[in-house]
Amino acid sequence: MGGCCSLIRRKKDELISSNFKVIDGRRFQLLDSNYVLPNDVGEEDRLDMQHYILKHAFNGNFSAPVDQLLRRGGRVLDVCCGSGIWTLELAKEYPNSYFVGVDIAPVVLTNEKPSNVEFVEYNVLDGLPFNSNTFDFVFSRALVSVYTREQWTELAIPEYARVIKPGGWVELAEWDGLVKSRVKCENVQRMNNALASLLGSKGLTPSPGFEIQGFLEQSGLFTNIGHEERFVPVGPKGDKYAEMAIRNFRDVWCAMKFPFTAAMQVTGEHYDAIVEAAVNEFLDYGANWENMKAWGQKKDRTAP
Ligand SMILES: C[S@@+](CC[C@H](N)C(=O)[O-])C[C@H]1O[C@@H](n2cnc3c(N)ncnc32)[C@H](O)[C@@H]1O
Repeated sequence: MGGCCSLIRRKKDELISSNFKVIDGRRFQLLDSNYVLPNDVGEEDRLDMQHYILKHAFNGNFSAPVDQLLRRGGRVLDVCCGSGIWTLELAKEYPNSYFVGVDIAPVVLTNEKPSNVEFVEYNVLDGLPFNSNTFDFVFSRALVSVYTREQWTELAIPEYARVIKPGGWVELAEWDGLVKSRVKCENVQRMNNALASLLGSKGLTPSPGFEIQGFLEQSGLFTNIGHEERFVPVGPKGDKYAEMAIRNFRDVWCAMKFPFTAAMQVTGEHYDAIVEAAVNEFLDYGANWENMKAWGQKKDRTAP
């Protein structure tokens, strides 16, 4: 996964911009945001891998009842679209619909951009750069390091609702970032603690998956709210997706070496050893990564 994509995407990393700085060979964006992961080729390849793991776990790219709507033709927004893979897959499957992906970093494509896709560079902490009642479906996934709890309720959910047409749909996909091992795994636990402490220091929660359904319900803006969850196996050895999930965690931990070594107060060498030990715990014992989705339909204020 990622071989030829990496070659073409490398061009993205050559787009040297004052919005980014390179630390330990990884490129981080400097704009005013909460984000702790890099924005570079390696991270885009990881996001693609994570996309396939989650698509497999949920048996598809979305859970809201929007298939017929997308077949007929609708406008779809992917908030913080990352590599753009979700948007691009749906654009191919639903040629009558029009897809917009918004992200703080530019999306650089490996192929020609489909005519029913548009990417917009924007900081969503400034709101969504679209008119009210524009989209039939708004989707967002893996925004654990984008919105604080307060920003979810005060900014994200009201903005999503504003840009959705009455009767249109929203879907949130998040997780419990604290992976649960089946037996006591000391090094996995150390990595969980580091994540909780780093995100906590920024007012972020490592487990927004537990809250997304409540965000929709408490907003009072949505009806027909549904939810589902899946436990994604992270190891042990032997299953293709369980091994991909191990690589996903390993890649995240490597990508976050710079902030994590500071949070854990360890040297880079010691950090690498903890990561390898945690990976071996996954390989030997396996763990579970709990993923959640919640969706709802924007209330039609004109309805009786
Ligand atoms: C973990 S990735 C998830 C990407 C995509 N949703 C997926 O599931 O593959 C989070 C994305 O949020 C983007 N992001 C972070 N902070 C942002 C902000 N303030 N405004 C817009 N995008 C942001 C990052 O650039 C990154 O692409």
